[in-house]
Amino acid sequence: MAAIGQDIAKAKAILEEGGLVAVPTETVYGLGGNALDPRTVGKIFLAKNRPAFDPLIVHTSSLERIAAFASDIPKMAVKLVETFWPGPLTILLKKTGEVPDLTTSGLDTVAVRIPAHDLTKKLLEQLEFPLAAPSANPFGYVSPTTAQHVQSQLGNKIDYILDGGECEVGIESTIVSFEHTTPRVLRLGGLSVEDIEDVIGSVDVNIHSSSKPDAPGMLKNHYAPKKTIVLKDDFYEASLTDYSQIGEMTFGKGMEQIPIENRYQLSEKEDLDEAAHNFFSGLRNLDQNQNIHTIIVNYVPNIGLGRAINDRIKRATAKS
Ligand code: TXA
Ligand code: MG
Repeated sequence: MAAIGQDIAKAKAILEEGGLVAVPTETVYGLGGNALDPRTVGKIFLAKNRPAFDPLIVHTSSLERIAAFASDIPKMAVKLVETFWPGPLTILLKKTGEVPDLTTSGLDTVAVRIPAHDLTKKLLEQLEFPLAAPSANPFGYVSPTTAQHVQSQLGNKIDYILDGGECEVGIESTIVSFEHTTPRVLRLGGLSVEDIEDVIGSVDVNIHSSSKPDAPGMLKNHYAPKKTIVLKDDFYEASLTDYSQIGEMTFGKGMEQIPIENRYQLSEKEDLDEAAHNFFSGLRNLDQNQNIHTIIVNYVPNIGLGRAINDRIKRATAKS
């Protein structure tokens, strides 16, 4: 198992030697390593069992530092990052030769983000290199929002877990590309499309569910628990009579037939930000409940962070 603590100096020393440290961010925990060192990046892919075609996000602590590994931020992006960084926003930039091809899966763009979390901010400020950090879960599984989640899934594959408590936002960053005339959202996430459009005007939302998407990690089947998970609409067709082994992730009240201890309510007051905060924890909670063999889940209102939650529900329930 990995050591868990809040020792930034220890995290720094491990990372400088090419080791892996799980780091807290406001979105989810990341599996961090030196983004500019191909050997370390290779370890990240191995630990996650992540396919090499799925590039990593590079995390840093200031706009000035980005110049070392990516070319200038496009004008339209400047306004966005000045408003939302540090925060749950990732943008794609042209990469420089400093970034190994492994980090970007051979693409000529690099995904960049300045995360908002005090511990990780301090760590990034003290490091001489940026951190590649995919979500700290085995590839395809539910993302971690506590240090314990990371420990239970990757604890034997990493050197240290920096414990920053529960992630505030709870779902991954929103990814935006500026390669076309109109900015393009490639992954819905913790920054809502509405908030983005308030600052830079209308954007295209181009999230994929194919085997060859623009954001290569956006595969049809992703974020999935180990148990059978079905959409509520599909479940009714099966018309069960015994609900004792059914679990439900609900936004509002949920199904009366299902035992109360098998229900996980995302937000009692039906608040979408709170639902996002609880989403992955809730899924994990139901996945680990011994009494449950099938998890039912239903879409939430498709506005604000609800769109990002629904995208994850869609992928979690997709047949692989
Ligand atoms: O909130 C987050 O973004 C978290 C925290 C740890 O920062 N990280 C995260 O990383 O979600 P990961 O690896 O789970 O997801 C990264 C996504 C993948 O879908 C990947 O395909 C996409 O970013 N991506 C990375 N570089 C890209 C690029 N150059 N072009 C298109 N998509 C890219
Ligand atoms: Mg991920």
